[in-house]
Amino acid sequence: MKFVPFFIFLLIIDIYFYLGTAFSVNKLTGNQNLYKIFYWILSGLIYTGIIYVILTYEKTTPSIRFNNSITYSSFIFIIFIAKFIGLFPLILDDAIRLFKIIFNFFGPSSSNYDSSRTDFLRKSALVISASIFSTLLYGMLFGRYNFKKNFKDIFINNWPKLKSEYKIIHISDLHLGSFNSVEQLEEVVFLINEEKPNLVVFTGDLVNNYYSEAIPYVNTLKKIKAKDGKFAVLGNHDYCDYVGWDRASQKWKENFNNLIDLEKKCGFDLLLNESRVINIGSSKINIVGVENWGAGKFNKDGNLEMAMQGVNNELPTILLSHDPSHWRQKVLKSKYRIDLQLSGHTHGMQFGIEIPHFKWSPAKYRYKEWAGLYKSNESQIYVNRGLGHLGYAGRVGIMPDISVLNIKTA
Ligand SMILES: [Fe+2]
Ligand SMILES: [Fe+2]
Repeated sequence: MKFVPFFIFLLIIDIYFYLGTAFSVNKLTGNQNLYKIFYWILSGLIYTGIIYVILTYEKTTPSIRFNNSITYSSFIFIIFIAKFIGLFPLILDDAIRLFKIIFNFFGPSSSNYDSSRTDFLRKSALVISASIFSTLLYGMLFGRYNFKKNFKDIFINNWPKLKSEYKIIHISDLHLGSFNSVEQLEEVVFLINEEKPNLVVFTGDLVNNYYSEAIPYVNTLKKIKAKDGKFAVLGNHDYCDYVGWDRASQKWKENFNNLIDLEKKCGFDLLLNESRVINIGSSKINIVGVENWGAGKFNKDGNLEMAMQGVNNELPTILLSHDPSHWRQKVLKSKYRIDLQLSGHTHGMQFGIEIPHFKWSPAKYRYKEWAGLYKSNESQIYVNRGLGHLGYAGRVGIMPDISVLNIKTA
């Protein structure tokens, strides 16, 4: 029953869009019924599909089977988002009409009715909706697994002077519950290993909710090779906090412990508010990892003080922390010298524009640091755009990210 308002909302969008566009489409096709039949049969199929996804949701998400419903629900999402945005010219048209009716009621009657403007606004609605739909569909078909290596030189003041560059591969946000392809993850592993990295770091959100989502991928992630180790931290999605389970419950604890086990089976050294020292030639560096700490409503299990206990802060220090908001809110205000924080979480909203010297995404209005490298005095943060996807099973402009970071002495 809780979905009834949601259905009514979708139905209102559907009816409004149909009534606003039918006249123009019928004129275009020269047929009074073609659009009506096509539109409502398609809508009927979509509503049947939504009911199916809702009824089977709890059964499919925790399963070790692939969650194919995300592809379907994304398709439905892009249809409605395209219609919803297309409504704006239609609402504008109706608002002008309404204003005229009110004006004529109180003022001198005028019968001039600008049909060309109405026609223009109706056609605009169709063009806007079709453009949004085709762009988002393109992102599902060709952006979802279009992995991109983002190369970045990062200079750290007291970094050891080495004969060759020190290469860190940084990945994040696998969201394996919606990744839906072992073959595509094998491709990721190949792309990582061909770089022959010194270190591989994974900055969290292995799953969407349940540990079992990761089971089909363990053997693939195991194959990632790095000379000096593979390190990981947890993201907000790794705590199973979004399914209504109490953290004190047995099922929550089991899920959490199983997830930690799986991270280890994948070969990751999972850092839960702790640190490691890595030997690089005759020098040493610190790798520190905190649990998730996110501003606002996100969980705050990350504890920098605990993670930094016993750490020699004279050494170059890299912090793994899933949520970039942790940097400004906690890390920069702390007494510790963190040379570089590596984060993910934003996904670059899986939508935007990224070309040389220019990048934009709605993510920038939510996160000040949302993709790439940022500096504040002596500290730097690098934000990975995420490899997987959540919600929308696609990517437009901001591609799935394999960051290749070359660390150099400043
Ligand atoms: Fe994520
Ligand atoms: Fe996240």
